Amino acid sequence: MYRTNTCGELRLEDRGRKVTLAGWVQKVRSLGGMTFIDLRDRYGITQLAVGADADEELRQTASQLGREFVIQVNGEVLERQSKNPKLPTGDIEIKVDGINILNKAQTPPFTIEENSDGGDDIRAKYRYLDLRRPPLQKALALRHRLAHEVRNFLDSEGFMEIETPYLIKSTPEGARDFVVPSRMNPGTFYALPQSPQTFKQLLMVSGYDRYFQIVRCFRDEDLRADRQPEFTQIDCEMSFVEQEDVLDTFERMMVKMFKNALGVEISSPIPRMSWYDAMDNYGSDKPDIRFGMTIHDLSDRVKGAGFGVFDSAEYIGGIAVPGCASYTRKQLDELTEWVKRPQVGAKGLVYVRLNEDGSIKSSVDKFYTEEQLRGIAAACEAGAGDLLLLLCGEKRKTQTQLGVLRIELGNRLGLRNPAVFAPLWVVDFPLLEWSEEDGRFYAMHHPFTAPKPEHLPLFMSDRKEDLERVCANAYDFVLNGTELGGGSIRIHNAEMQERMFEVLGISKEEAEYKFGFIINAFKFGAPPHGGLAFGFDRMCALFGGQETIRDYIAFPKNNQGRDVMIDSPSRIDAAQMDELFLVSTAPADDKGI
Ligand code: AMO
Repeated sequence: MYRTNTCGELRLEDRGRKVTLAGWVQKVRSLGGMTFIDLRDRYGITQLAVGADADEELRQTASQLGREFVIQVNGEVLERQSKNPKLPTGDIEIKVDGINILNKAQTPPFTIEENSDGGDDIRAKYRYLDLRRPPLQKALALRHRLAHEVRNFLDSEGFMEIETPYLIKSTPEGARDFVVPSRMNPGTFYALPQSPQTFKQLLMVSGYDRYFQIVRCFRDEDLRADRQPEFTQIDCEMSFVEQEDVLDTFERMMVKMFKNALGVEISSPIPRMSWYDAMDNYGSDKPDIRFGMTIHDLSDRVKGAGFGVFDSAEYIGGIAVPGCASYTRKQLDELTEWVKRPQVGAKGLVYVRLNEDGSIKSSVDKFYTEEQLRGIAAACEAGAGDLLLLLCGEKRKTQTQLGVLRIELGNRLGLRNPAVFAPLWVVDFPLLEWSEEDGRFYAMHHPFTAPKPEHLPLFMSDRKEDLERVCANAYDFVLNGTELGGGSIRIHNAEMQERMFEVLGISKEEAEYKFGFIINAFKFGAPPHGGLAFGFDRMCALFGGQETIRDYIAFPKNNQGRDVMIDSPSRIDAAQMDELFLVSTAPADDKGI
């Protein structure tokens, strides 16, 4: 037997027991003839002690140990002289009788402890070493726990886990596809699924009325803290349901997961907000409702005072920042520069300080009387001590900028406590989104989302203004300002699906070529259906109190989409290229390949 116990297990009650442990050497310290070794595995750390009175051979072996050596030790559990209250095993140590070095280790490139001294790049290169650290082990344990809870819940509700293929034809989810050349079919390519969307709908046509899958999805898009090129969804679909059935099922799932995995009680019903209210009041379709600072439309109130910038703007909105009237000129200048960065894109920032002493000072004093400024403050529900910040421009764009500013100030003021969970359903999304740039509509969710039945006449209209007003039974699950999941009630009839492609400017031929299979399937008795998918990596990160998903994925990619550990993506050799009928036009790399 390699070990009788793990390194996180032994307690004072085990005093006197003869045990065998195995693990990694985290630290070796010599003290007054004694050698102390911290032995680590994923369960914890146990202190080993080799006494000054130990035999020569044992002391010799102990002195050879280096960091990350893999060893097996025999010994007796003793009560420690100086206890370590920070360690669960801190009351005991093992008086070592024998050490067996199972494997030596080179000195690791960074410290493998709770906090490491290694930078991101080196830790990514040696990911298998970084994964030995407790925070990462905790993250993956949480991921495992959550996957288990999901499977338990969905199984108990009659959902069947069914796998769908990875080598498929493109599914449009708004990103670029990763493609795989086919050797057997020269000149053709598979696409890796951006989601199993069409397959889960086909499963509904096949009668598997409750489907789920914890499934990898692939999207070639710009990466951020909460985006990876390959990520995992909890993908679900149900037949014979309305929006209410889907929301009810997954609301119960989330409430259960919070309770079972975190011990957090989420009160149900989870609040709901229409997409329009989310945009108007929070400047985001994924509002963080842990704090207020909502956006107020000041357009009618501030226009016509002779301030040209406001007078010519479509929309002027403001937020009241609590307790920040004392911001200095320098701080306000810095904020102004911040909103002017291309990532935010505002032209300027107007402020009104509501000083504690009752006085008012603003950057637009020339144009507004004190009375008017007080009116603006009242409209923003601001009081003494608050700072009003105003932006103007095109309506949705300005609201989005105010939304970004709101989140930034929420961060700066410590209003976004990761230990507080504020879930929200955002509902009633517009079905379509007009792109000025491309002069066409795009599906806001995806082209399989159905219009609300009462909006069908608008959907059949050819007028842009009518189509812009069509809403969908589409919904997002938002947690603390992150979109955790989304879904919709689907189109289940061939004519309607064809109409959708028409509205999206996709020709009949193109629709047939790309989606003929699903349009056809709808002709053979497709049940009404709907579903949703949660971003599983995001769920793990948020449950763990983090915004970055990378630590919750065992082997993630970096911001350039590279796995620096295995050095991928990489070139393939000429023979492989030939076999796949590929010719590369990329410039040769520094190895001349
Ligand atoms: P959607 O595109 O909204 O919907 O994706 C569902 C959820 O997946 C997560 N997500 C991501 N997580 C990490 N990295 C990414 N690159 C990434 N992209 C998306 C988000 C998102 O809410 N087929 C539909 C679902 C449906 O309609 O049933 C779909 O994929 O948390």
